[in-house]
Amino acid sequence: MKLPKIFLSSLLALGLVLPFTTTAEPAPGALPIIDYGERFLPEVARNGMVVGPERLASEVGLDMLRRGGNAVDAAVATGFALAVTYPRAGNLGGGGFMLIHLADGDRQVFIDYREAAPAAATRDMFLDDTGAVDKQKEYFSLQAAGVPGTVAGLLAALDKYGSLSRKEVLAPAIALAEKGYPMSFAQARDLNERAVMLAMDAAASAVFFHDDGSPYAMGDTFRQPDLAWTLRQIAERGHDGFYKGPVAAKIVDAMEKDDGIMTAKDLANYRSLEREPVRGSFHGFEVVSAPPPSSGGIHIIEMLNILEGYDLAAMGHNSANYIHHLAEAMKRAYADRSEYLGDPDFVEVPKRLTDKDYAVQLRKSIDPDKATPASEIKPGLEPVSESRDTTHFSVADAAGNVVTNTYTLNFSFGNHRVVPGTGFLLNNEMADFAAAPGTANAFGLVQGERNRIEGNKRPLSSMSPTLVLRDGKPWIATGSPGGSQIITTVLQTILNAMVFDMNIATAAMSPRVHHQWQPDTLLLEQGVSPDTLTLLLARGQPAEYTERTLGRTQSIMLRDGWLFGATDSRRPEGHVAAY
Ligand code: DON
Repeated sequence: MKLPKIFLSSLLALGLVLPFTTTAEPAPGALPIIDYGERFLPEVARNGMVVGPERLASEVGLDMLRRGGNAVDAAVATGFALAVTYPRAGNLGGGGFMLIHLADGDRQVFIDYREAAPAAATRDMFLDDTGAVDKQKEYFSLQAAGVPGTVAGLLAALDKYGSLSRKEVLAPAIALAEKGYPMSFAQARDLNERAVMLAMDAAASAVFFHDDGSPYAMGDTFRQPDLAWTLRQIAERGHDGFYKGPVAAKIVDAMEKDDGIMTAKDLANYRSLEREPVRGSFHGFEVVSAPPPSSGGIHIIEMLNILEGYDLAAMGHNSANYIHHLAEAMKRAYADRSEYLGDPDFVEVPKRLTDKDYAVQLRKSIDPDKATPASEIKPGLEPVSESRDTTHFSVADAAGNVVTNTYTLNFSFGNHRVVPGTGFLLNNEMADFAAAPGTANAFGLVQGERNRIEGNKRPLSSMSPTLVLRDGKPWIATGSPGGSQIITTVLQTILNAMVFDMNIATAAMSPRVHHQWQPDTLLLEQGVSPDTLTLLLARGQPAEYTERTLGRTQSIMLRDGWLFGATDSRRPEGHVAAY
């Protein structure tokens, strides 16, 4: 049976598609398998899809696909557009990770464009005279900024794996910055929330407030002419348009006028790096994710290895028994994170963390009926021998290429400092280092010596753009913001699909839980039953509800030639653009 796509999507929207499942391979053009009856339905398309945190930028990416660009072109265009349309986390002044599946050769490549510490950075740079961490300096000074990686990373992806020209993929971002766009409700709210902080920086005030100093309201046209200028430098001169020449000069000038330590040499030396992604398996699925300097991939795989030894399906989704085992796996993984993870170009990250036999050892320490207090869990290898924001988008094209990308300024609006004349915010990613090893960072994460500050080193991250492969082909592309909660968000989203057969929308929006070893608290999203809370407390789990959602995925599931997309719509503005 063949239905026109528009007809199909209206049926889906109206909830009129009849329930059916089939195991037979559907004929091309046949209706996709919809597990009707689940709580949420994904968007469905055939030719291309961009799932992102904001509508205009998703549409920019889709436009690249429509005009014949591939998933990498669309991802790069979306990445630049989000720098304009989603300033709280979309960025030029930050960094991130991109994981690409190339249909040609069925292989994955990973681009690390994480910020790097300026060469002059030192271990104790954020400590005050008493040896305590000066949080103001660590979060909001110019020294909080690492050397930005986003422009290098997006351009490297485009050069090597894209097909359209730099000018083509940058044109929509330039137009959006130049002509402006109507401020959305969510964005006006974000800006108002940060108004006091942003107003403290003259250049940020010039960008994020009207000329008369009044804040933007919903519907106001938001223009960013300086940002358009910066984007044009990049369109014209590529990598050097940002890391050398007038843009770099403005960054260095801002640093010199204030307390910054980033130099022209730091900028000129910055390069994105291609790294081998980390790989694991779970009941026949292959999981490909972010390697160090992200901790995400390693710990997702470590937790999956632990959980593979239990019959999770029999426990039941979000039963107390299931959440108990999730929490025990999470605590052990985050304890390891506190000790073993750091920039692999500076420190050794033990390979054993993702071994199945290491998981066997960890599993033995888990009591199925009783929580192990965090204080009794230590990083495990030796014995055997924010308000904040980040953003993620996922792209798939008709040829089978898939991109999953997470990038960030660290906090919402980074260090809240705009480089005068450029229109872009700087990150505060230096706060992801252990300013004082052994103490908690902005996300409550305790981190160790391996993640201490050193010049040119990349701070440890939790960002986890992830692919799940089924029969060797991409099945799920996902990722999330949420600082320390990114890793557990991605874990539960893929478990929801792999173990509980949820469609990607239900997988994205089913209530999640989070434990990060320290603090010893198990957070439960609204929607986990109070009866479950009672049962968890009886097992000794320090469980409590959180009012905010944990993370926020932007995901695509690829199945039988169809694309299923979902943004976790419990947070505003996310958008699936597809055709
Ligand atoms: O790289 C990291 O892990 C953090 N800088 C990410 C920050 C973040 O996700 C904040 N978002 N909600």
